[in-house]
Amino acid sequence: MTDKINFPKDLIDLDAYTPEQISHILDTAESFKEVSEREIKKVPTLRGKLVVIFFHENSTRTRLSFEVAAKRLSADTVALSASGSSLSKGESLLDTAKNIEAMNPDALVIRHGASGVPSFLGRNLSFPVLNAGDGAHAHPTQALLDMLTIREVKGRLDGLKIAIIGDIAHSRVARSNMIGLVKMGAKVAVAGPPSMLAVGLAEAYGVEVYTRPEPAIEGADGVMMLRIQMERQSGALFPGAREYARVYGLNKERMKLAKDDAVILHPGPVNQGVELDPSLYDDERSVILPQVTNGVAVRMALLYLLIDTPSDQG
Ligand code: CP
Repeated sequence: MTDKINFPKDLIDLDAYTPEQISHILDTAESFKEVSEREIKKVPTLRGKLVVIFFHENSTRTRLSFEVAAKRLSADTVALSASGSSLSKGESLLDTAKNIEAMNPDALVIRHGASGVPSFLGRNLSFPVLNAGDGAHAHPTQALLDMLTIREVKGRLDGLKIAIIGDIAHSRVARSNMIGLVKMGAKVAVAGPPSMLAVGLAEAYGVEVYTRPEPAIEGADGVMMLRIQMERQSGALFPGAREYARVYGLNKERMKLAKDDAVILHPGPVNQGVELDPSLYDDERSVILPQVTNGVAVRMALLYLLIDTPSDQG
């Protein structure tokens, strides 16, 4: 386990972090990985601490891995969903959060369909708020686990070329990865249909932008494919799944453009046959399931680093 260094109270997105802080999170996550390989997969680090996990949107990976991470650190967890909470009876989000605060938790993990909700709660609550994905804004823990996975295979992030392909405009994963990877010295090339590329991406994030996948994938050390975020699109932005797969999907032929040892990433959920040819899901270059494994380690690191423990007072 690494020492603690100073971090902002809340994890909203990676723009608030220095490259040193990001490296420290990745180093801490790496040191926690072995806990999940022990026969008894638990350390007492957060014993007596309470983590509230509030998901206002569906999730498999993020929700489960935050819960697993907290349990592996011996924290207690309680989970709340929108439909099971009194939000459905008209209570405001802030009132709900203040009622959670009255039970004296040590951290709140929140996923919400509206951008800005974790930041709003962080400003109004006394304990750390961790963003587990807010609208199309940010998904910082996903970007951190992606960076850990790439660093694990490549030994570094600095100087690598990473391609991100798909629905960039609606993807919080793309946004957090663009911020994080560029901060860590990687070159990022994004590609997607013009209807799925936001205006000003190159200037805002320092990335290369293409409307075809080939130049983005050319010479890449990693290729990250994204799901089309139908739930965040207001109208049809492409002719159909078959056409999308033909022009933008990652298949063996397009993968030949990347470096021979390039890794294939996907944050999940994967729509096999649309953005990713099924033959590549299990390809030896695919790190899609190691990404999930690393998600637990990254979330353990963040809970450890952001929650005050008696050892922090010396
Ligand atoms: N990558 C990701 O956020 O997956 P879930 O929606 O299943 O949490």
